Amino acid sequence: ADGDRVPALVIGSGYGGAVAALRLTQAGIATHVVEMGQSWTTPGSDGKVFCSVLKPDGRSFWFRDRTDQPVNYFLGFDANKDIARYAGVLDSEQFAATRVYQGRGVGGGSLVNGGMAVTPKRAYFQEVLPSVNADEMYAKYFPRANAGLGVNTIDQTWFESTKWYRFARVGRASAQAAGYSTTFVPNVYDFAYMKQEDAGTKTKSALASEVIYGNNYGKRSLDKTYLAAASATGRLTISPLHTVTSVAPASGSGYTVEMTQIDTAGNTVARKTVTADRVFFAAGSVGTSKLLVAIKARGKLPNLPGAVGDGWGNNGNVMVARANHIWDTTGADQSTMPAMGIDNWNDAAGPVFAEIAPFPAGTELWISLYLAITKNPNRAKFTFNTSTGKVDLSWQASWTQPSIDAAKRVFDAINAKAATIYRTDMFGTYKTWGDDFVYHPLGGCVLGRATDGYGRLPGYPGLYVVDGSLVPGSIGVNPFVTITALAERNIEKIIVTDLA
Ligand code: FDA
Repeated sequence: ADGDRVPALVIGSGYGGAVAALRLTQAGIATHVVEMGQSWTTPGSDGKVFCSVLKPDGRSFWFRDRTDQPVNYFLGFDANKDIARYAGVLDSEQFAATRVYQGRGVGGGSLVNGGMAVTPKRAYFQEVLPSVNADEMYAKYFPRANAGLGVNTIDQTWFESTKWYRFARVGRASAQAAGYSTTFVPNVYDFAYMKQEDAGTKTKSALASEVIYGNNYGKRSLDKTYLAAASATGRLTISPLHTVTSVAPASGSGYTVEMTQIDTAGNTVARKTVTADRVFFAAGSVGTSKLLVAIKARGKLPNLPGAVGDGWGNNGNVMVARANHIWDTTGADQSTMPAMGIDNWNDAAGPVFAEIAPFPAGTELWISLYLAITKNPNRAKFTFNTSTGKVDLSWQASWTQPSIDAAKRVFDAINAKAATIYRTDMFGTYKTWGDDFVYHPLGGCVLGRATDGYGRLPGYPGLYVVDGSLVPGSIGVNPFVTITALAERNIEKIIVTDLA
């Protein structure tokens, strides 16, 4: 409540925030999580908490009048739909030359993502984060993160026979025919539950086109794992629909945290000020970077390092689709949870790790869709724009080209071998590459540059960064396992050295 004093305040409830919340509460520290999105627990008039990809309503997007689907065209026509303006679960945040998809709600990105739980290749992890002890990460913190997240693997016998993964088998066959290796990818979706959906004994979710606007069942999102465990300690408080706007040193000790509370229609219902002994920034790569850059520019935390706002990358994300032959059906029925990837990361000429993505349209389309992760060297910067009062991101449209070049090598080869072509009607009109949006924003407050080696903000004892903004722009695989493991490592150190 307004005027309260709390020992620990966490801004945001995604992976970094959920890890901090669990480990702080377990250490006996009363912890307050402030989350701008809703707590997704109350069913709508259709009896469901979340809406499906095929029937989006207000619940789908964060305050938009029209959906902004990642694959937003079909046959060259805009496939978006008008919706009611509401505090929906998926945000597409538009910057000058890219738009960034992010989860909004208690659980952050875990509410909307594909659940792919990939531990990065050790050599690349060391290349990206050389100051972090990789022995310790791979022996201790990656296993801890995988356990805490509830990561599981698909039953391969079922995978080989079920209609729901025909799209993945077709994608695998064409990749292997062109000489690429493929790999099964772990997930946090409960595959045992998915088999029961298939058997008709449980309500369908992944098998009912639910994913980017939330899963009503089956998904081990953070509200069911880390945050539930934190809550069970009795020391966790969560304030949904509260957005932090400012953090500044309090007179005496601690920090003054200002926040705005809204209702689900977006009306401001209250402004509150809380004092916190310690503040953990866990608003995500974009959220934390924007907050810190704006707070610094407004003179509230003037001594933050110059590197705050730097080192942002899109994890080399680019999407593409291929048109299969008429006999290569990918299935009207597709699970929304990816389970297979094409692994060409060790190709020095252009590393690519591509998820074979579903396109759960409910009808046969002969489409193979991919989200490629590439090694893109370009890095952007967040800066405060004094004329608009907003934070800009310097990413340029042309900076995605290295990702296209790398992905094109792989998919040109696959197309050549299969005698197939790209689809050019899914990301625009005559547009092959989905290169103007990102699922994996990383960096902006990079470990060891904007913070010390554990996420402490220099000059401001008691301020910490714990989320994806610490990872310098690229990790070579889907990022949430890395974000979680790094948060586990850093919070353990912080609790032992700063909070004991
Ligand atoms: P995250 O974004 O999860 O959490 C930040 C939270 O802070 C949000 O809940 C936000 O609302 C809140 N917040 C922001 N500003 C605030 C403020 N000022 N005040 C209060 N709260 C604030 N990754 C992966 O590994 N496997 C996958 O399969 C996928 N798939 C995928 C699909 C889609 C559609 C998306 C959008 C993303 C993915 N990802 C993914 C990416 C993954 O979800 C992402 O990397 C993590 O959620 C990032 O975790 P963080 O803890 O950094 O922030």
